Amino acid sequence: MGKGGGKAHSVFRCTECGAEQPKWGGRCDACGAWNALVEEPVGRTVGRLEGWKAKAGDVAPVQLSNLPTGGVQRWQTGLREFDFVLGGGIVPGSVVLVGGEPGIGKSTLLLQCAARLEQAGIPALYVSGEESPEQIRLRADRLNVAAGAVHVLGETRLEAIVHHTRALGARVVFVDSIQTTYTDALEGAPGNVGQVRECAAQLMRFAKEAGPAVLLVGHVTKGGGIAGPKTLEHIVDTVLYFEGESTLDHRILRAVKNRFGSVDEIGVFEMTGAGLEPVADPAAAFLAGRATGVSGSAVTALMEGTRPMLIEIQALAAKTGFGTPQRVATGLDHRRLAVLLAVLERRGGLPFGQLDVFVNVTGGVRLLEPSTDLAVLAALVSSVHDRPLPADALFLGEVGLGGEIRPVAGVERRLGEAARQGFRRVFLSARSRVGPTGLEVVGMDGIGELARRLAA
Ligand code: TYD
Ligand code: MG
Repeated sequence: MGKGGGKAHSVFRCTECGAEQPKWGGRCDACGAWNALVEEPVGRTVGRLEGWKAKAGDVAPVQLSNLPTGGVQRWQTGLREFDFVLGGGIVPGSVVLVGGEPGIGKSTLLLQCAARLEQAGIPALYVSGEESPEQIRLRADRLNVAAGAVHVLGETRLEAIVHHTRALGARVVFVDSIQTTYTDALEGAPGNVGQVRECAAQLMRFAKEAGPAVLLVGHVTKGGGIAGPKTLEHIVDTVLYFEGESTLDHRILRAVKNRFGSVDEIGVFEMTGAGLEPVADPAAAFLAGRATGVSGSAVTALMEGTRPMLIEIQALAAKTGFGTPQRVATGLDHRRLAVLLAVLERRGGLPFGQLDVFVNVTGGVRLLEPSTDLAVLAALVSSVHDRPLPADALFLGEVGLGGEIRPVAGVERRLGEAARQGFRRVFLSARSRVGPTGLEVVGMDGIGELARRLAA
C-alpha cells in the first residue's frame, strides 16, 4: 500500500473476522468464511514524513509525572450491574460497543441508561435508525424509569447524528445501531463492513475531540450478511456483549474489552415486563429454581471476572434406543464432554457405550473454564447411579486425561461465596490449598475416588 501517489484503490475485508486481503476471493484466507469478503475503498493520499510541522492546537508530548493522578471521571447510570461491568460508569469521551443478537434487549438496556442519565442531569441523545421515535416512546412507556426527558432522533446519517449531538449539547449519545448508520464520505450501503468501520472510527474521533461518550449498538448475526461487532472491537474503547437465551429471563452483560476497567466482568439482569432489572444477588441468580433430591444435578462455582457465580450442571444418562448413543451438550463444548466421558469410562470404570448422555448448564450460562469438569463428572456419575448428590455440596476441579483432579484458581473466593449461599461441603483436588472457609473439605486425587465415594 501507499507508494505515495495517493491513487485510490481497494482492499477486500472479511465481514466475519475483519481480515484484509488485496484480492477478492470466494473464501477468506484468514478465517475460511465463505462469501464474506467485501470491497473497501482506500482513498487516502499518503503524505511525506519529512517537512511536517506542528500547528497550533496539535498535542505535544508530556511527562507522565506532570499528568494528574487519580481515577477517570465517570457518569453513573445508577443501573448497578451496567455501571459495574463498565468499571464504575460511563467514561466521558469513550466509545462503548454493546453487541448482542437481535431481540436480546440492547435497545431496552440503552434506553434505560439514557433515562437514568437524564435524571442524573447528564443530557443524553438516543438516535435510532431501527425504530421510529413513536416506537421508542412505546417502549419507554413500559419501563420502570421515566424516560420522558430523553431526546430521541430517528436518523441514520452519521453527519446528522454528530450535528445534533453538538447542537443539543448531549454528553452521551446512543447510536442504535451502528449497522444502520452510514456516512456520505463513503460509498456502499449501511451495514457493509466499510461503512460500519468508517462510522465507528468517525464517532471515535468525535468522542475524543468533543468529549461526549458514544454508546453503539452492534448486532451479532449468525450467518453474516452485515458486518458484526467483531470488525469493530479494535476500534472502540470498550466492548460489551449482551447474552442469554431470549426465552429465559436472565441476561448477562459481559465486558470482553475495556480500556477503562477490567475485562471478563459480567453483570446479570432479568428481563421483566418493565425493562431490565439488575439481579439482586448475581452469584446465586442461576441457582434459583434448582430442584434438590434429583439425581444428575451438581453445583459448581465459576469465576466471572472478579465475581464468583454458583451454577448448576445437569446430566442425564439414559439407555440408548438403537444405533450410536447420543451426546448432547448445552452450555458446554461437546468436545469437552466427549473427553470427560472417555476419562470417566477409562479412569472411573463407568461404561457409557450403551447410554445416551445429555448435559445442560442451567440459566443459559456457558462453561468456559475447566474448573467445572469435576461438577460435570459428578452430575454424570449421579445420573448413572440414579442417586442424588448432597444438596449442600459443591464440586470444584479440573480433570486431566489421567483422571487426576487438579486444583483451580481463586478457590477461596469461590468457597466464600458458596458458604454465604448455604453450602456446607466441597469436593475438590486433594492438592488444593484452602484456608478456613466454614465448608467441610473433601480432597480427592482422582476420579476413581469420586466414583467410589458417590457410589458408596
Ligand atoms: P430489544 O431491546 O428490542 O432487543 P434488541 O434491541 O437487542 O433487539 O428487546 C426485545 C425484547 O425484550 C422483546 O422480545 C420484548 C422484550 N421486552 C420485555 O420483555 N420487557 C420490556 O420492558 C421491554 C421494553 C422489552
Ligand atoms: Mg434494538
